[in-house]
Amino acid sequence: MKEAVSVLIKQEEVEKRIGEMAAEINGKYDAVHLIGILKGSVFFLCELAKRITIPVTLDFISVSSYGDGTTSSGIVKFNKDLDESIEGKNVIVVEDILDSGRTLSYVKSVLEGRKPASLSVITLLDKPDRRVVPVELDMTGFVIPDEFVVGYGLDYAQKYRNLPYIGVLSLTEE
Ligand code: PRP
Repeated sequence: MKEAVSVLIKQEEVEKRIGEMAAEINGKYDAVHLIGILKGSVFFLCELAKRITIPVTLDFISVSSYGDGTTSSGIVKFNKDLDESIEGKNVIVVEDILDSGRTLSYVKSVLEGRKPASLSVITLLDKPDRRVVPVELDMTGFVIPDEFVVGYGLDYAQKYRNLPYIGVLSLTEE
């Protein structure tokens, strides 16, 4: 298959929006503890953190959802838990994309039980057409159509995460 990527959201647009999101965070808290869900959120989280001017600390979790390869069973499991306690912290869970909602719904329910001072959830991209489990978001970068998107942390077979823009991947017979 031949792979081609077309630009959906340009780098300047993505970075402008991340700046707006950081400004909103700066105005709302005294300090924040960002939690990235590996691996997709890393690029967004770094760009966001660079634009936050209040004290920021970071931690990461890794989760997997199980299925038969084509469909998700909806069961999500932690592969790597947080390194530090979130008790009493203003926690912001940072995602690259909200798709079925299974990952964020599970992560949110687990973290809510760990007594953070506050728990918010933000995503760079939201694909509402794919939602299976409802998730209340505190901030969204862009609402996008149901296309296969790559770049800014999002992959296809682990590739394209490093593209500095959001692209749509198309596959054609060679
Ligand atoms: C992607 C993305 C979210 C999740 C969203 O992660 O980073 O974590 O899927 O999908 P959902 O709303 O249907 O749960 P993926 O499992 O592809 O891992 P990655 O971040 O390492 O690419």
